[in-house]
Amino acid sequence: MRSAMTTATKLSFIHRFEPATDKDRPPLLLLHGTGGDENDLIDLGRIVAPGAALLSPRGKVLEGGMPRFFKRLAEGVFDEADVKRRANELADFVSEAREEYGLPAPIALGFSNGANIAAATLLLRPEALAGAALLRAMVPLSQPPATDLSGKPVLILSGAMDPIVPTANAAHLARQLQHAGANVDHRTLPASHGLSQADVTLTRDFLARLAA
Ligand code: MLT
Repeated sequence: MRSAMTTATKLSFIHRFEPATDKDRPPLLLLHGTGGDENDLIDLGRIVAPGAALLSPRGKVLEGGMPRFFKRLAEGVFDEADVKRRANELADFVSEAREEYGLPAPIALGFSNGANIAAATLLLRPEALAGAALLRAMVPLSQPPATDLSGKPVLILSGAMDPIVPTANAAHLARQLQHAGANVDHRTLPASHGLSQADVTLTRDFLARLAA
């Protein structure tokens, strides 16, 4: 039986934490989309990684009252200085939370804006994450620094009918991560920006392969 979770305000991000019941599973860092919060992806996390510890921060940037993980100038046009600052803040939070809760490096599971900050964190602070599942991600940094992501598993799931993320943009992100040495599996699903059952199944299978 899992302990009841409440939103925690200690550490540098408001977040929820659910301890592992299956220690063979790496923890998940759940990163919500624009307008979401720390509660949004908890159920998805439980479905795709049963028994894994779940660490779910709330984005600190507010856009018209909607939490996000970094500022944007327009839809799909990012304030890259803020992306860098916020990715570093998130990586620092992961390190605090690992210490507080006794965790190994997590796998990020991000949706939309949460997938974009996860991609930026991989590129800027690769030590923070053991890998990532990026759902509806796009390129967060036009000129990422040289990074070593050797062997890190990354699943990118894009939607062929996504009006927010052009397929070429997602393919560019996949190339950036591959170029840094990540082990990238990029699939384009017959879906829009919203998640489909195939997203759940493919993410669950990807994460099952990473269990010890
Ligand atoms: C972003 O701003 O990160 C992307 O446009 C996705 C979104 O949050 O709508």
